[in-house]
Amino acid sequence: MLDSVTVRVSGKVNLALNVGPLREDGYHSLATVFQAVSIYDDLTVTAAAPGSGIRLTVTGEGVGAVPTDSSNLAVRAVEAMVQHGGISDAVLSLNKGIPVAGGMAGGSADAAGALLAIDTLCELNLGRENLSEIGAELGSDVPFCLYGGTALGTDRGNVITPALVRGDYYWVLALAEEGLSTPEVFRRVDYIRDLADVLVEDPKVPDALMSALLAGDAQLVGKALSNDLQRAATHLRPSLDQLLRSGQDAGALGSIVSGSGPTCAFLARDNIHALDIAVALTSTGLCRTVKRATGPAFGATVIDARSIA
Ligand code: C5P
Repeated sequence: MLDSVTVRVSGKVNLALNVGPLREDGYHSLATVFQAVSIYDDLTVTAAAPGSGIRLTVTGEGVGAVPTDSSNLAVRAVEAMVQHGGISDAVLSLNKGIPVAGGMAGGSADAAGALLAIDTLCELNLGRENLSEIGAELGSDVPFCLYGGTALGTDRGNVITPALVRGDYYWVLALAEEGLSTPEVFRRVDYIRDLADVLVEDPKVPDALMSALLAGDAQLVGKALSNDLQRAATHLRPSLDQLLRSGQDAGALGSIVSGSGPTCAFLARDNIHALDIAVALTSTGLCRTVKRATGPAFGATVIDARSIA
C-alpha cells in the first residue's frame, strides 16, 4: 500500500444554472453547465497509526473559515470510503486556492479529492463512476469535481454528461470578503418566485450556450451566460450588482455570479483582456481580491503518490 497521496482539484463556474421546482427531498431540479477553472486546492492524504482517527489541517485561501472537524466534506468523504475498503485513520493536509463558501464548489472539490486520494492510497480502483455515486451523497457538485472539463449537470446537478466544447476560456474571478450560504440562496429563489407567483417549469440548458460552446465562440458564450441564482444572490448581497456592472463597463464578454455566489465571474477575450478587467475590478474596491483563471480545467487528479518504505 502507498503511504501518502496528493490530489489536485479545480474550482468551477456555472455557465448556465437553470433552477427548476423545489422537490420533495428539499433539492431543486437543475439543468446546469459546469466549467472547471484553473483555481486549485491540493489535498494530501497520509495513512496514520491505527486508532488515531482522521485529522485535518488547512492552509491557504480563507483558512479561518474552513471547518477542520467532521463537518468538513473532505473528512466526510474519507469516512464514507471506509465501507468501500478505505481507512479510518488518516492525516489530511489541505492547501486551499478555491474561495471558501464562494459558489465555486470548493468544499465539493475537496470531497472529490479525498475520494480519489483514498481510492489511490488503498488501491481500490473503484473508477470515477462509482466514486461519483459515493460523492453525490456528500454534495451535488462532487461528481462534476471528479470529472472536470465542461459538462452538463442534471437531476440535482449530480448527474454529469460531458459537453462538446471548443476553445479556451479566460476568466476573471472577483472574490468577496464573506461567503454566502448555498441553502439560503436557494431559499431566496423560492421566496422571490412565490412573491411573484411564477409558474416554475422544468429546467433546461439554453441551446444558445451549447452551440456557442460547440463553435468555440467566446463572444457568444459571454452573451449566453445565465444563472437563476443570481437574482437571489444579489438580493442577499446588493453590492454584487454594482460589481457585475463594473465588469461589463470594463468590456467583459459576460458577467455572472458564480453558482450561489458571492464570487463573480467575468469572461475575457484573452489573457491581456483578462488583466485589463482584473485591474478595473480591483480599483472599484467592491471585492476582496481578483484572480485570473482559464477553463476548461481538469477534474480531480493525482499529482503525487509515495510509499515511505
Ligand atoms: O448538494 P449540496 O449539499 O451541495 O447542497 C447544499 C444545499 O443547496 C442543499 O441543502 C439545498 O438547500 C440546496 N440545493 C438545492 N438544489 C440543488 C442543490 C442544492 O436546493 N439541486
